[in-house]
Amino acid sequence: MKRPFIAGNWKMFKTCPEALNLVQTIKAGVYKTTDCQIVLCPPYTALGALHAILQDSSIELGAQNMHPETEGAFTGEISPVMLKDAGCRYVILGHSERRQFFQETDTFVNEKVKTALKYSLIPILCIGETLDQRNARQQFEVVKAQFEQSLKDITKEDIARVVLAYEPVWAIGTGKTATPEQAEQMHSYIRRLIKEQFGDDTASRVSILYGGSVKPDNIGELMKKPNVDGALVGGASLKAESFVQIVLNACACVEAEARK
Ligand code: PGA
Repeated sequence: MKRPFIAGNWKMFKTCPEALNLVQTIKAGVYKTTDCQIVLCPPYTALGALHAILQDSSIELGAQNMHPETEGAFTGEISPVMLKDAGCRYVILGHSERRQFFQETDTFVNEKVKTALKYSLIPILCIGETLDQRNARQQFEVVKAQFEQSLKDITKEDIARVVLAYEPVWAIGTGKTATPEQAEQMHSYIRRLIKEQFGDDTASRVSILYGGSVKPDNIGELMKKPNVDGALVGGASLKAESFVQIVLNACACVEAEARK
């Protein structure tokens, strides 16, 4: 039975008191759920406070970005060592908003992936096509190029530690989810890319999340698909009720599938 992996990307939302409030309610809501890997990625300013509050919980902490150097004159940036120090186990890399608004390239993302792994942070690597690229039927070649370039020179041992997130840009924050079939089609393609490069065993161990307007009422259908291992949730992770419900629905769906 697969273990759902649900990550919340809070983006640039929540002050420290708001973040604490949200995490307390989420913690209480998922208290009995042990069969789901939950990761919360708040803004940097809330990492320390959340780390303290999550000490007695199985919920893990992640950051939303990182600089590939360990230290240096990079005003405004944050390093893997600092994220580890703040209690992070995960880090989102290559999010489409970083690519779109901060001109991040696959080469830069690749540097980040390598340093994250070096410092034992688990990258949640985001890849996905824009609407124009999908309309031009280029989604597979775009995702393949992002996959190959962002994971350049990554060893078989290391790829097994990476979490991949397929996030079609046209579905992020738009309310337009990819259909479960569209998600499965791309997830199985990504799984095939891993298999071709790193072998069957590794491919079956890598979690592939779907991201883009995931809500309590669409997570179940997505999770039913064999190659969808979980979700990276933006908007719906900002409210405790919807995030908790996504976690509970994902678990219920996986259990129901296993009983069939
Ligand atoms: P969304 O964001 O769930 O609000 O579409 C997903 C993401 O950006 O990771």
